[in-house]
Amino acid sequence: MTTPVTYSTHGAIAVLRIDNPPVNALSQAVRQGLSDGMDRAEADADVAAIVICGGGRAFIAGADISEFGKPPMQPHLPELCTRIEASPKLVVAAMHGVSLGGGLEVALGCHYRVAQPSARVGLPEVHLGLIPGAGGTQRLPRLTGAEKAVEAITTGRHIKAPEALELGIIDRIEDGDSQEIGIAYAQDLLSKGAGPRPVSAMPPAEAIDWDATYDAVLKKGRGQISPATAVRAVQAASELSFDDGMTRERDLFMELMGTDQRKGLIHAFFNERAVSNLPELKGVEPRALQSIGVIGGGTMGAGIATAALLARLNVTLIEMTEEAVEAARDRITGNLQGALKRGKITQAQFDALTTQALTVATNYDTLSDVDLVVEAVFEDMDVKKQVFGKLDAVCKPGCVLATNTSYLDVNEIAASTKRPDDVIGLHFFSPAHVMKLLEVVVADATAPDVVATGFALGKMLGKISVRAGVCDGFIGNRILAVYRTAADHMVLDGASPYQIDKALTDFGFAMGPFAVADLAGLDIGWATRKRKAPDRHPEERVPTYIDRLCEQGHFGQKTGEGYYIYEAGKRGGTPNPKIAELVAAEQRDLGITPRDFTDAEIVRRYMCAMVNEGARVVEEGIAKRPLDVDMTLLFGYGFPRYWGGPMKWADIAGLDSVLADIERFAKEDAWFWQPAPLLKQLVAEGRSFDDLNRAG
Ligand code: CAA
Repeated sequence: MTTPVTYSTHGAIAVLRIDNPPVNALSQAVRQGLSDGMDRAEADADVAAIVICGGGRAFIAGADISEFGKPPMQPHLPELCTRIEASPKLVVAAMHGVSLGGGLEVALGCHYRVAQPSARVGLPEVHLGLIPGAGGTQRLPRLTGAEKAVEAITTGRHIKAPEALELGIIDRIEDGDSQEIGIAYAQDLLSKGAGPRPVSAMPPAEAIDWDATYDAVLKKGRGQISPATAVRAVQAASELSFDDGMTRERDLFMELMGTDQRKGLIHAFFNERAVSNLPELKGVEPRALQSIGVIGGGTMGAGIATAALLARLNVTLIEMTEEAVEAARDRITGNLQGALKRGKITQAQFDALTTQALTVATNYDTLSDVDLVVEAVFEDMDVKKQVFGKLDAVCKPGCVLATNTSYLDVNEIAASTKRPDDVIGLHFFSPAHVMKLLEVVVADATAPDVVATGFALGKMLGKISVRAGVCDGFIGNRILAVYRTAADHMVLDGASPYQIDKALTDFGFAMGPFAVADLAGLDIGWATRKRKAPDRHPEERVPTYIDRLCEQGHFGQKTGEGYYIYEAGKRGGTPNPKIAELVAAEQRDLGITPRDFTDAEIVRRYMCAMVNEGARVVEEGIAKRPLDVDMTLLFGYGFPRYWGGPMKWADIAGLDSVLADIERFAKEDAWFWQPAPLLKQLVAEGRSFDDLNRAG
């Protein structure tokens, strides 16, 4: 049997080298291999020092996350780190790539640390709903001081080698192969007579205002508990002995291990990777992608062009007039200036991107050689068809023709060309150079390699790409329309938009639905309601109070008035008193007696509406798997990551209880609350959405 940890000696130095692709996660076999290697090196009288290093991409990316939730197997990580630290022989960690979580904890268990200049270290456990559980919260503050350790652990950020050196996390930076720099450092230390230097024996960290820090971190986490819990663990490193601190860390770690937030965050970790892993694309090669065209230089088109430029693609953007061309260029330049300011690109790169890589023109002929075109013009089928007609005429054979429509029928657009197999929907979210979500909308005739090219583009742009089928709103906007309606119904029945927004931000959403509507512009929802009016079912409840505000020319933030009133120069808004009057008038017209809602009921109804529509979207094949719904809501709609997504939330809440609530709500409004057949089926079979994910 091959072992993931190999043992070799180089003079007086023993090397324990980990090779556990892809990222040297600390599986049971790796932990066992390190423990056995330590035993062997200590038993060898010719060995004076031990180097731990990794092969491949990383020193160690952390605990093996796929082992979480399974019965723990010996040797446990905390004991392994303690065992390494207690060695009578000098132990050096030689780090390259990333050393994260348990990986950094192993390194902190070593007596000295040397790293390549490009190495990064960090304790990102809070992003998995945990805290470091193998001494990280006790050892790191002894090296960096409490304040720096709290910052590093509660943000989980990756720290580059030079900063890690400054903070005292590593002792030396050396260029070269990690094994070589490890051996050289160990020899150097031995020659200077250095011996073991356990971090646990260093003085405890200074005290800081723990309660104030805890409160601040809790507030920043929007309800996420792991970062705040980490503050208490670091507090223990300051107030307790090392051994008692380790016990406290373990207790807090085990508490978090049992939480729903931990389950949600790990669901998010694996599925943001699984989402672009589609069985239908196995073995399908994407088409070549070096240059793209963008039609339309408004906010969306300019955002798409910016994202493509930042991914080092050549971009040709088409606008209708010379003025529009210049306005588009200004928007893109403004976006790139932002990237320059944030240090994402250098001045030289900025200059190249805005000159060589970008062409802005009015003539479609300039698109004759591009590999892919994204159309981002006005949402009108006739306008889109005209654009696609022109593209069909000028683009080279094999060029992918993509529409950025949010809801129009991609099949109809494709059918208007002579090459429907080259047509796809690429639905970006505004601002397109910032938002992570990309819906790859697959029409009936779309060729598999065009789908693969959509995903390849998403990857190049650093997006989370989700496959969606054709329907009004695809995955995200279709589900949004339904939970928004649930929120509107609650307003008509007596909850205020402000209570609803607060209940949902307390639940963890970045913003509540009414604040979002103000931000997006109330005219968008107004136009959608008018568009859908002819197809309304007679039993459908459609609140119209907000249309009265739109009729007065108030469209939310951009006009200074919507659900909230916005004063220039102030962040956020204050409740608009007109809303209560408009709602009361509609309630009187409809004969509704308003009632009180608890925050819990608001969240429950909102979530049930989201899950029910999510189930329909899966059942109809618009989303292939529940995880596609989860990732869409997480990356495009501000859904709290620590719930994993709406379908994961439903699994945790229990599908039977979600269905029971939907059936209860259906007694008031049978049209809106029709339970999705898939939900009923899963409950009847005792299965979960995650079971469907696993089935593929
Ligand atoms: N355990 C198991 N698998 C892991 C893993 C881990 N810790 N880290 C990464 N992987 C897997 C990924 O799932 C992915 O698998 P597939 O190819 O099958 O999808 C593969 O490794 C490559 O990962 P990425 O696609 O993410 O590659 P990348 O180069 O973009 O990023 C990385 C590499 C920076 C290591 C990133 O994967 C990452 O941040 N991983 C998580 C690190 C982490 O959170 N570590 C702490 C774990 S908790 C802990 O260690 C403390 C404890 O006591 C419990």
